Amino acid sequence: MKKIKNICCIGAGYVGGPTMSVIASKCPEITVNVVDINQKRIDLWNHEDLDKLPIYEPGLKEVVGKARGKNLFFSTEVDRAIDEADMIFISVNTPTKTYGKGKGQAADLKYIELCARNIAKVAVNDKIVVEKSTLPVRTAEALKSILENTGNNVNFEILSNPEFLAEGTAIDDLLDADRILIGGADTPSGQEAKDALSWVYEHWLPKERILQTNVWSSELSKLVANAFLAQRVSSINSISALCERTDANVAEVSKAIGYDSRIGSRFLNSSVGFGGSCFQKDILNLVYIAKSFGLQEVADYWEQVIIMNDYQKRRFADNIIATLYNTVSGKKIAFYGWAFKKDTNDTRESAAIYVADALLEENANIVVYDPKVSKETIYADLEYLGNKSREEIEKLVTVVNDPIEAAKDAHAIAVLTEWDEFKEYDWQAIHDLMLKPAFVFDGRRILDHKKMEALGFKFYKIGQNGS
Ligand code: UDX
Ligand code: UDX
Ligand code: ADP
Repeated sequence: MKKIKNICCIGAGYVGGPTMSVIASKCPEITVNVVDINQKRIDLWNHEDLDKLPIYEPGLKEVVGKARGKNLFFSTEVDRAIDEADMIFISVNTPTKTYGKGKGQAADLKYIELCARNIAKVAVNDKIVVEKSTLPVRTAEALKSILENTGNNVNFEILSNPEFLAEGTAIDDLLDADRILIGGADTPSGQEAKDALSWVYEHWLPKERILQTNVWSSELSKLVANAFLAQRVSSINSISALCERTDANVAEVSKAIGYDSRIGSRFLNSSVGFGGSCFQKDILNLVYIAKSFGLQEVADYWEQVIIMNDYQKRRFADNIIATLYNTVSGKKIAFYGWAFKKDTNDTRESAAIYVADALLEENANIVVYDPKVSKETIYADLEYLGNKSREEIEKLVTVVNDPIEAAKDAHAIAVLTEWDEFKEYDWQAIHDLMLKPAFVFDGRRILDHKKMEALGFKFYKIGQNGS
């Protein structure tokens, strides 16, 4: 069996960084070079102070601290790392296209293509190229075509090895993965490549959890896994709207249906809407692929998951406006949380962005507190929507480091991320600082209804009408 000695990972982001850190720490005999064109990001990965790593993940700094400088290296020397590697992971970003054909739905593969062309240019010996980024089905074929037609006559074996880690639990997900999926060609050299990658994971995972499939099944499984997960959230969120109109409580419904072992209890938490870099993008991809094969009903079916998610975010914002006597103009509304979920500083597609945008449309003043997200990121997220100028955003949105200060003279607090610390606050002190009546809109269902009402709050919790 081919034993991998040197791995290069192109892209030092939320996927590449943690994945390679775990591989390096579990495979001390393999040299792992993580490269990125973003010098600033690489400098942070190399920062002496492990609290300055560019991404926040519980357990990440310990893993990086163990391997960095021994067999784990971060640099911008992309060509050198490609040249030295026998296995190359592509973990660059694949955002949804913002222009041209497939705008708003298809994945933008320009970063992937640039990587492939770079590999083809540099490689002089055989390489196994592993797609790690989430990609539309059949990207491997495009990769193969670029590599074979522009390379220096070297053999490239292309594998699909989708990432299933969730942010906030990335390290645990990697260390104790439910499964590893490896897709590759059904040829002797394809089999050899699949086994070589399998061997890497077998350093810490039982062989039974490593599934080998053909490339297309592997690529499609990634999209489908995320689509099913997102669908669960949209399904329970659709029920949350119904619960708010009746006396049903969405948590009781989730629990009742989750006890059915065919349904299962996980991923049934009603919320202000799912976010993150994957769910929406992957479903849009699925929709685009289905449409491109003329499967309109399939496309419509999955698109509904996104329509429901947009409805949930809009519904939350509309409820704030309606409850605050139909106007939020000039009113201070504090946001607790901006990240798309707890334990991450990632804000991509976070529901908070869209709720803020809807309130800004009504000229609200928003004060944001998030324990991990920077002011610059918050402003950039809003600016990216293109609905308000930077100047207007800075006028209407303030970012603070102190949650209590955020509440001072606020008409309402909206909980947008389920950070644990929000549950521990002195809510009495917060109530005292706010204008009365003091409203709290809990978009994550983390606060206790009865307790909040006893403190005097007008309390609204998603998926529940009254305590
Ligand atoms: C997801 C997949 O879980 C992971 O397997 C894949 O590799 C990448 O996409 P991630 O986006 O990091 O991971 O986080 P996840 O925990 O799946 O949450 C996604 C969004 O759904 C978050 O905004 C979260 O708050 C929301 N969510 C999740 C709910 O609203 N309710 C739930 O019950 C679960
Ligand atoms: C269902 C519920 O399972 C049961 O809890 C409820 O009390 C009554 O409705 P039933 O209709 O008897 O029970 O059978 P079920 O096994 O759920 O199958 C329903 C249909 O779905 C069948 O036509 C079955 O063939 C189909 N099915 C089920 C699939 O096509 N694929 C599957 O994976 C499962
Ligand atoms: P993900 O969540 O998929 O990891 P990120 O945006 O966090 O996405 O990370 C992707 C990284 O890939 C970014 O740091 C970006 O600079 C890097 N990248 C994009 N294109 C290239 C390229 N051609 N060569 C090297 N790095 C690249």
